Amino acid sequence: MEVTLRIFRYNPEKDKKPHYETYKIEAEQTDQVLDLLNRVKWEQDGTLAYRRSCAHGICGSDALRINGVNRLACKVLVRDVGTKITVEPLLGMSVIKDLIVDMEPFFDHYRIIKPYLINDEPLPVGERIQSQEERARFDDTTKCILCAACTTSCPSFWASGEYIGPAAIVLAHRFIFDSRDRGARERLEELNGRMGIWRCHDIFNCTDACPREIEVTKALGEVKLAIITGRLD
Ligand code: FES
Repeated sequence: MEVTLRIFRYNPEKDKKPHYETYKIEAEQTDQVLDLLNRVKWEQDGTLAYRRSCAHGICGSDALRINGVNRLACKVLVRDVGTKITVEPLLGMSVIKDLIVDMEPFFDHYRIIKPYLINDEPLPVGERIQSQEERARFDDTTKCILCAACTTSCPSFWASGEYIGPAAIVLAHRFIFDSRDRGARERLEELNGRMGIWRCHDIFNCTDACPREIEVTKALGEVKLAIITGRLD
């Protein structure tokens, strides 16, 4: 079948403003949208810029707006989106070139929540033991691949890029509820700040956008509850 691919293009070195270019490609129902982007680049226009790596939904580098919805290009098949496909960069981030956005502000927010185990207690002999139940408490949020699909689908983030955003909070959740970690209080204090978690209004865009099917809004709700009650169970 023939697919019409409409792609956002912007090269700040020569374009005054962004525009769209249209490409026609022969495709199978089971082709990924990433396959189509690759074919455009390899067969029609080598100047097209986009990020990709694993092609299997693991690295998170190819999050894009596909027919208006945040998705990973490698996890969306032609049969999922039809034969007219519009591909655009993530909203709320500045465009470096074509489909590539500047992820640095996103990773700055990620660093704020201290995404590593904090525990200054003396090392035990052997491992820090954790029960299966304790590990299950934060299992869902360990699945985050930092693709930014959730944060860039959030109207609060569109309104202010300073909002820390759901991805950083999901990663905070992963450590806050880890029984081996002792940094929950400082993370909760950070998230309780002006650009923290209270900018979330439970719209659920983030949950819908997550390619790993993390219950993002639920995780944010648990963090809000921990701030209010001071309880980490
Ligand atoms: S290319 Fe790695 S997640 Fe899509």
